Amino acid sequence: MVAPLKVGLAGLGTVGGATARLLQKQEPEATIGRCGRPIELVAVTAKAKSELDALGLGPVRFVDSPTKLATDPEIDVFVELMGGSGDPAKSSIEAALGAGKSVVTANKALLAKHGVALAALAETKGVALNFEAAVGGAIPIVKTVREGFAGSTFERVYGILNGTCNYILTRMEQAKLSFADALQEAQRLGYAEADPTFDVEGNDTAQKIAILASLAFGVQVDGDAVFVEGISSLEPEDLEAAAELGYRIKLLGVAVRTDQGIEQRVHPTMVHLDSPLARVMGVTNAVTVDPEGFTPITLVGPGAGGAATASAVVADVVDVARGVRVKPLGRPTATLAGSRRAPMQRHEGGYYIRLSAVDRPGTFATIAKHLAEEKISLESIVQRRRNGAPHGGDDPQAPPPAPVILITYATTEDAVRKALREIKNRGVITGNPQVIRIEKN
Ligand code: HSE
Repeated sequence: MVAPLKVGLAGLGTVGGATARLLQKQEPEATIGRCGRPIELVAVTAKAKSELDALGLGPVRFVDSPTKLATDPEIDVFVELMGGSGDPAKSSIEAALGAGKSVVTANKALLAKHGVALAALAETKGVALNFEAAVGGAIPIVKTVREGFAGSTFERVYGILNGTCNYILTRMEQAKLSFADALQEAQRLGYAEADPTFDVEGNDTAQKIAILASLAFGVQVDGDAVFVEGISSLEPEDLEAAAELGYRIKLLGVAVRTDQGIEQRVHPTMVHLDSPLARVMGVTNAVTVDPEGFTPITLVGPGAGGAATASAVVADVVDVARGVRVKPLGRPTATLAGSRRAPMQRHEGGYYIRLSAVDRPGTFATIAKHLAEEKISLESIVQRRRNGAPHGGDDPQAPPPAPVILITYATTEDAVRKALREIKNRGVITGNPQVIRIEKN
């Protein structure tokens, strides 16, 4: 009888519990057929033993600390599903790797901060550090980028990496809900966390795109190198106007090769209605990989939830059982280039701009003049009448300001910001302009 791969699992929350159940469902015969040996869950650690008891898993040993479990002589692979960018996740993974054990984790926060050091340790020890579940839940995007395209050069990797935000944007568009109401609904349905800041301000997406950027472009994983803007300032009228103009607004993580280096950014983005990402609604995730020389490929699927994430975790364990040992970041860590935060003022692309224009003669002329001075060319302009809006300018008798929506051809962020600053200084708009970057298909 061939020796089983013995698994120690740390963390029995939604993903940990689902992983424990899925591991126990693996039929030894089938697993031997697939990877040459059976897989056995032998020990777990969690905040309380009652969490293990509640799962009714049978004879699985409870260990009272993650670090003890990580170095437990009986286990071959340590599965970390506790989360968090610090300890105990970090110290227990280091302990497991240091002891020559392979590690499987779903911990994007830890990888975005310490991914390079952990990958280097795994390389030195000749063990696996697998993290398919850290990005895109059940979508096998880590493997796709790292292994499926190992011989290709990427132009761009981008996608919808946060289900909470995609759900909120879907509801703001379809039911014309405000951001706050859509968020409340997402919380009621259990999609959004009690504290949703991390998701809606784009940080969760930033950690995921930092991981994909490293795999696709050979740069060091660094969550701090990602430019981040969240979705909380969007209004339902932006989603409505986007649709009228042939676009849909998505929170995207984008990693792209530019003349200035690898740009990594997260922000609300206008995508063409005919692009695959525009069709992805609700909590679903999707990633488009754009390799040099042929058409992009989009993978779509559940990005969160116990069963979906556990599927990716168990697939990583199966790889360890098969003896697969790839460099965690796809190439030796010593060869990774440094990551640096993109200077967004040099970002080039089209822009959606929504202004609240004071309704008096000369407003458009002033707007057009300052756009022209910055060499910004317009693809479309829409002006609406808005009833009941506050009066514009100093004159209480003046008609209410009217929303004006501009779509620009490709320009630079610097030019857009300069033109808008001048337009605001001339007193022809009220409030702050809404600016959304357009991502080409
Ligand atoms: N909170 C994330 C989301 C899932 O809403 O997609 C975990 O990364």
